[in-house]
Amino acid sequence: MAQPVAIEVWNPNGKYRVISTKPMPGTRWINLLIEQDCRVEICTQKKTILSVEDIIALIGDKCDGVIGQLTEDWGDTLFSALSKAGGKAFSNMAVGYNNVDVNAATKYGVAVGNTPGVLTETTAELAASLSLAAARRIVEADEFMRAGLYDGWLPHLFVGNLLKGQTVGVIGAGRIGSAYARMMVEGFKMNLIYYDLYQSTRLEKFVTGMYGSLSYGQFLKASGEQPVTWKRASSMEEVLREADVISLHPILDKTTYHLVNKDSLAVMKKEAILVNCSRGPVIDEVALVEHLKQNPMFRVGLDVFEDEPYMKPGLSEMKNAIVVPHIASASKWTREGMATLAALNVLGKVKGYPVWSDPNRVDLFLDENSPPPAASPSIVNAKALGLPVSKL
Ligand SMILES: NC(=O)c1ccc[n+]([C@@H]2O[C@H](COP(=O)([O-])OP(=O)(O)OC[C@H]3O[C@@H](n4cnc5c(N)ncnc54)[C@H](O)[C@@H]3O)[C@@H](O)[C@H]2O)c1
Repeated sequence: MAQPVAIEVWNPNGKYRVISTKPMPGTRWINLLIEQDCRVEICTQKKTILSVEDIIALIGDKCDGVIGQLTEDWGDTLFSALSKAGGKAFSNMAVGYNNVDVNAATKYGVAVGNTPGVLTETTAELAASLSLAAARRIVEADEFMRAGLYDGWLPHLFVGNLLKGQTVGVIGAGRIGSAYARMMVEGFKMNLIYYDLYQSTRLEKFVTGMYGSLSYGQFLKASGEQPVTWKRASSMEEVLREADVISLHPILDKTTYHLVNKDSLAVMKKEAILVNCSRGPVIDEVALVEHLKQNPMFRVGLDVFEDEPYMKPGLSEMKNAIVVPHIASASKWTREGMATLAALNVLGKVKGYPVWSDPNRVDLFLDENSPPPAASPSIVNAKALGLPVSKL
């Protein structure tokens, strides 16, 4: 028997019952729902990861829509419960939705929302931060300083890698991978090699200067500097072999599960840096720990882990690993934007609005000085459900 779950209620007399499984940043998302006649119930249970039973208890007998989190298992059981309670809308407060069985949702007629368009730069900035922190051994040096071990400048103290002129490798050059690539190329003048199943036109337009102006490489040359180079690799191995810093940005699915494993680690340079801000299971973490032990100059920066919230045994002891608790999207602007987009995904379906035609162009939904468009910003199974599409 499920235990009752603690909630906070806003606008108790609202016509539509919308649940958020977690308190989310900002208040705009709550106000937007209330203004459209929603009763908003926010789960305040002091438990980081809610179980399927907890969420069934939250849904109850009548529920129009739920805003959920990437830590929750949204499969057949929950979509069946939501559908029985009359619900037709769910949104993850995340861009990735590997925790959601979209086919099950579609079977029950439930729209599934996600929140692209607000995480790109924030997540890419964390990947860039981890790349720099690993290259310049910032965390190790900070620990050394705080431990009172610094007794004067030394030629060999915490010597790391110079990024300028080295090669950055990007695996998965979608929104975030492309933004990260540009940061490393423009900011640190690194050469680029990327691998993706598809050609990344947004990235190639920048590096080749297809807008009729100089490419970044030509611009550097014209300024008397060494131009950067770039190429699309024909295999992931090519990136692993050639790059000095490799950042992983694919979605998690069966093609990317353990993409980095014992064999792929063996291909990489002994002093390479590996960064993961995508999803934990993209790396075989047991193989990674072993590789870190065998190769002390190989360094990693990890935001995500295979069995969150846990780390595989041995990882936390490795000096050549920087580990942070899944904070890649954790900037105030992004998190408030994610909350707003997730709430509007649910609201749009509850009110029968169409789906926004370009989920990457969501500025109008985020402008606090005007009401958002009457549309759901991003519904991933819109086509499968035959939902109407709004014009921009
Ligand atoms: N750590 C975090 O907090 C955080 C924040 C945001 C996003 N993410 C993760 O990052 C992922 C990427 O986000 P995005 O907005 O850039 O998505 P996106 O869909 O724009 O890009 C993903 C790219 O991966 C490529 N890809 C898919 N399978 C591949 C394979 N087998 N090999 C190589 N490339 C492959 C796709 O072609 C696509 O270009 C999300 O799915 C999410 O899991 C994590």
